[in-house]
Amino acid sequence: MNSNYQNITENAYNLSNSLDSKGKLATYIPELANVDPSKFGVHMTKVDGTHFGMGDHLEKFSIQSITKVLSLALAYKIVGEKLWDRVDVEPSGTKFDSLLLLESYKGIPRNPFVNSGAIVICDILISHLDNASVDFLEFVRDLSGIPDLTYSDQIADSEKATGYRNVALCNFIKSFGNIQNEPNVVLDFYFDMCSIEMTCQQLSHTFGFLANGGRQLVDGRKIISKSKSKRINALMLTCGFYDESGEFAFKVGLPGKSGVGGGIVALYPHNYTIAVWSPKLNPNGNSFKGMKLLEEVTTHSELSIF
Ligand code: DON
Repeated sequence: MNSNYQNITENAYNLSNSLDSKGKLATYIPELANVDPSKFGVHMTKVDGTHFGMGDHLEKFSIQSITKVLSLALAYKIVGEKLWDRVDVEPSGTKFDSLLLLESYKGIPRNPFVNSGAIVICDILISHLDNASVDFLEFVRDLSGIPDLTYSDQIADSEKATGYRNVALCNFIKSFGNIQNEPNVVLDFYFDMCSIEMTCQQLSHTFGFLANGGRQLVDGRKIISKSKSKRINALMLTCGFYDESGEFAFKVGLPGKSGVGGGIVALYPHNYTIAVWSPKLNPNGNSFKGMKLLEEVTTHSELSIF
């Protein structure tokens, strides 16, 4: 067992950085195609509050689907176990934007992290909050400790102009009765939510509560219960990487969540959270170098949840 995380992370960073830069930028959201593909950063925050990072870890990037963990946390906190009447907790084995299983499961998405599931979570938040867009942003500001955090209009508008798949998903789910609000309203909120930008440092800090039994790292304040935190971590392990969730559990062995901006956040409960960013994605839509770096970190620290 080796818990000198800083050395291990540095070695993992250098090794992954020297790899042939495989993968492709996500171009289906035009704004994401403008990102410098060579960016690479990592930041680790330990539950004792100490933290370190390297590379481009202080540069903001589009967190995209990583936001789905935070929207799930807020919806679960508000609605409790009734949430699972609307969204299932099973891996989908499909691409993140697939329509396929919605037909057989009558509009119930397989889990809250595929696009269809996250869209239903948005619908639930809209039904339960005065102004979901404002209230969700406030929730993330509080978790991240970034008081002036905003949605990125540039990224949201770019996705709104081209997000035909998500429009189809939302309308299809509505046809089964599992969307209660107007699809346009739900989708606007969904695109806003995905447009949040953070640095690796901010992201690893924001996810601290899930490594700490549902409590903020800085002041121990309860965000969600221990049981809810455990369940969200279980969902990240089984569904956080879409059709590659098995592979991530197999090689890295930690709960985590990826986004098409090239970010990944993973956490080792009661130990640390780690956020990595490298924009080039493998064919499953997950950061190529990010996956490699995390695999190196858990291999060489010989510590994972298994
Ligand atoms: O809805 C979309 O397609 C994007 N806003 C988010 C997808 C995403 O990040 C999938 N992650 N790997």
